[in-house]
Amino acid sequence: MLRILRLALPILLILWLFRQVRKPSGPFGRRIVRAMNLGHAAMTDWGLQQVTVPKNAVILDVGCGGGRTVRRLAALVPEGKVVGLDYSAASVAVSRDTNAREIETGRVRIEQGSVAALPFPDRTFDIVTAVETHYYWPDLPANVREIVRILKPGGTFVLIAETYRGGPFRLVYGIVMPLLRAAFLSDTEHRDLLTQAGLTEVTTKHVSGKNWICATGRRAS
Ligand SMILES: C[S@@+](CC[C@H](N)C(=O)[O-])C[C@H]1O[C@@H](n2cnc3c(N)ncnc32)[C@H](O)[C@@H]1O
Repeated sequence: MLRILRLALPILLILWLFRQVRKPSGPFGRRIVRAMNLGHAAMTDWGLQQVTVPKNAVILDVGCGGGRTVRRLAALVPEGKVVGLDYSAASVAVSRDTNAREIETGRVRIEQGSVAALPFPDRTFDIVTAVETHYYWPDLPANVREIVRILKPGGTFVLIAETYRGGPFRLVYGIVMPLLRAAFLSDTEHRDLLTQAGLTEVTTKHVSGKNWICATGRRAS
């Protein structure tokens, strides 16, 4: 019995950790998204450098986690507005905390909701960002089409992620991603995903020696 417990406990712990990454919850989930604010900073800043961000842009960050990307975007758009959205209550709480000052000024809003049914009218945003979150979305093609719906004509979707299939460290991610039940797309599949959702001028960029990907596409004017 003790031997079974010794074997089962680490497995249960890993499964619980994976669940927390997909949808953080409770005090531990809040810690995780705070850690992700730090862990994803360099990759996020690199990804955001791949797009032009007008200073009056209206931006949505989907799967905003701990809200560090929202804060960064708010700094880039002194005359614009930023909305962060996440389906996890823990992420929403930390994101609101991270952006408390900007929320007070009325330039930032954090909302709870899913990418599957974005609570915004058609053609609302100039830019939609999604950092390290699309792996977990319930129906990627439909969810990207939902993002296209709320983009203004000429608006840009920016998908930034730490890993793609076929990049460096493929052995590690080849094991971890299926365990996480995460979508593990190749570079070409990322481009196809955006193109098939109706976006144009689709490009992907990478950093030498890293597994990062930044995929962008524009809604036709
Ligand atoms: C790995 S975290 C990344 C958070 C943040 N973007 C960052 O870079 O630190 C993934 C986030 O996506 C959110 N998420 C996953 N599926 C979602 C969905 N269907 N709708 C909205 N948010 C989702 C999770 O709740 C979590 O906060």
